[in-house]
Amino acid sequence: MAEQEDLQDIDPISTLLLPEYHENGFDMLADGAAKQQLQHRHYLSSIDSTILIRQLPSQGLSFQLWPAATTLLTLLDRHRSHSATSQLSSILAALSSNNSPLNVLELGSGTGLAGIAAAITLGANVTVTDLPHVIPNLQFNVDANANTVALQGGSVKVAPLRWGVDGDGDVEIIGRDFDVILASDVVYHDHLYEPLLYTLRVLVGVGEQKKKNVFVMAHLRRWKKDSVFFKRARKWFDVEAFHMDKPCDGSRIGVVVYSFVRKSQKLQTGLVNNQSSSMK
Ligand SMILES: C[S@@+](CC[C@H](N)C(=O)[O-])C[C@H]1O[C@@H](n2cnc3c(N)ncnc32)[C@H](O)[C@@H]1O
Repeated sequence: MAEQEDLQDIDPISTLLLPEYHENGFDMLADGAAKQQLQHRHYLSSIDSTILIRQLPSQGLSFQLWPAATTLLTLLDRHRSHSATSQLSSILAALSSNNSPLNVLELGSGTGLAGIAAAITLGANVTVTDLPHVIPNLQFNVDANANTVALQGGSVKVAPLRWGVDGDGDVEIIGRDFDVILASDVVYHDHLYEPLLYTLRVLVGVGEQKKKNVFVMAHLRRWKKDSVFFKRARKWFDVEAFHMDKPCDGSRIGVVVYSFVRKSQKLQTGLVNNQSSSMK
């Protein structure tokens, strides 16, 4: 019943993954064995260069590129070109200290596009993470872009990080010293809401006196129940929508980008407009 309501609300199939004709282009490798490999080149106009991302669709959703990752790439690219006026500028300005590189952690990186883009456009030290079985493809994509990252003064590390208490040991290894925690399209299965929120609280340091940090999350809403995640998150975080994409063809909803800061730690960010509150 609940699922039926969801389906009436939003068509999850048409909004599930990036269509293959995505504007960044796509190449299917020629030989039969490699047919399941898709390689996308994502252009960054700010540095006139590309990020190469390999997808392995037959291996599951963690090996495919989801729409919100490209929204983050676009925002980061714009920020690199127009750092004073971009939508990320007020959020990031509140964090950087002494012009030292930002430390960024990406959760549920999948193919790693957003984290790699952050390392390149911000010259940041980025750790991309996901479930252990996703790590080899993530490492492949990080290696494929290592030269571009290094040219821009950034770095990317790859590490397993399972959300929830199961990931306590992972966090111990990775550390918690991050200015920005980044994620795209990580709110989709309701059984993952609590583990994700747990890991966020640990990383952001809810209830602690910790240096300023922010969780930036791009999200394409597919289900009414997504609002449960936001409702629970508001117990610990001040949540603001600061960017909204135009809906893709055939859809009523576009990707929305939110900042989450732990309560009592105010960053100067701005709500996009009144529409955004209906997305929460
Ligand atoms: C829908 S995909 C999004 C991937 C990528 N961020 C993107 O936008 O293209 C969700 C990602 O979350 C990861 N994930 C799911 N459950 C997880 C968990 N319990 N711990 C860590 N990562 C998880 C998946 O492996 C997957 O890569």
